[in-house]
Amino acid sequence: MVRSRITGTGSCLPDKILTNLDLERIIDTSDEWITSRTGIKERRIAEEGQFTSTFAAEASRRALEMAGIKAEELDLIILGTVTPDFPFPATACIVQHEIGAVNAAAFDLSAACSGFIYGLSIADKYIRTGDAKKVLVIGAEVLSRVVDWTDRNTCILFGDGSGAAVLEVTEGDSGILSTHIFSNGSFWNTLYQPGCGNRNPATNEQTLLDRLCYIRMEGNDVFKHAVRAMEEAACTALTANGMTPADVSLLIPHQANRRIIDATAKRLGIAADDARLFVNLHNYGNTSSASIPISIDEANRTGRMKSGDNVLLAAFGGGFTYGSALIRW
Ligand code: COA
Repeated sequence: MVRSRITGTGSCLPDKILTNLDLERIIDTSDEWITSRTGIKERRIAEEGQFTSTFAAEASRRALEMAGIKAEELDLIILGTVTPDFPFPATACIVQHEIGAVNAAAFDLSAACSGFIYGLSIADKYIRTGDAKKVLVIGAEVLSRVVDWTDRNTCILFGDGSGAAVLEVTEGDSGILSTHIFSNGSFWNTLYQPGCGNRNPATNEQTLLDRLCYIRMEGNDVFKHAVRAMEEAACTALTANGMTPADVSLLIPHQANRRIIDATAKRLGIAADDARLFVNLHNYGNTSSASIPISIDEANRTGRMKSGDNVLLAAFGGGFTYGSALIRW
């Protein structure tokens, strides 16, 4: 059976670390509050001269190196991001140029924290239909530039970075077994950036005065929906493949909040301290579309996934968007 398989993974994070103690110095918060409510201890922050494309290109080079293929061999580049370098052109085109993927079509995809799963789903379909043989899927964000550093409800949560995966066609047993993507647009304004699009353009002085170009979030609403949606997406993946949670070797959930991760895992019968649950949120915070590919790369490079393992990915994000992927490693 023809399917797609991840043959290389890579990630790239800024060197600059912002700890909870650093945040205590700029807003009214505490390490204790952030740790107990979110599980986050520190996050990475892009420095001047570093952009979404900077991290995306480096993560991509590392993924290509692991896959052992040249950038020229890529047919398609899909980059999930809500913090592109520019409104246009697509950051994917900048990455294409930087890595020398001269034969690829390249586009950005806006599905917030589900961006990588959405990208994986499209890439998988392109490969299964035979329209592409080698596809690069990237999640990359510089959220620190759309975070309101005066808003303690949101600024503690987010971080910057990128992860990437190379998908290639395979006829073996391993690879992507299924992907499922969902949206619920009735909550579009529960987690969003009100300004700097064309409803509230940055060219309008009021947009800047009202601080509309920063992330706005109804934290409690997002929390409740995230747990339910990630469970639904994960269960859909298992049912579609005739599996139960006992068949899952590793669950990699979107890294938004430790309490969301634990609640999702619990609903799947996986305990918070189970080695089958992957968590790196304490180091990076919520990197939106980058969180799952950074996690896959870490799990891959540290030997957390072995040949034949069933790896379940589940994500949730603004939109709302959500989705899952089940991979036989
Ligand atoms: N430091 C200290 N206190 C803070 C704070 C901070 N950084 N942020 C909020 N508080 C305060 C609030 O002002 C509130 O005080 P009050 O009771 O005096 O009004 C109190 O803490 C409780 O706030 P609440 O919003 O009810 O806390 P919570 O337990 O719901 O946690 C979030 C808030 C944001 C951590 C939580 O709702 C969450 O994680 N939501 C999901 C966010 C998310 O993951 N988004 C991305 C999804 S992809």
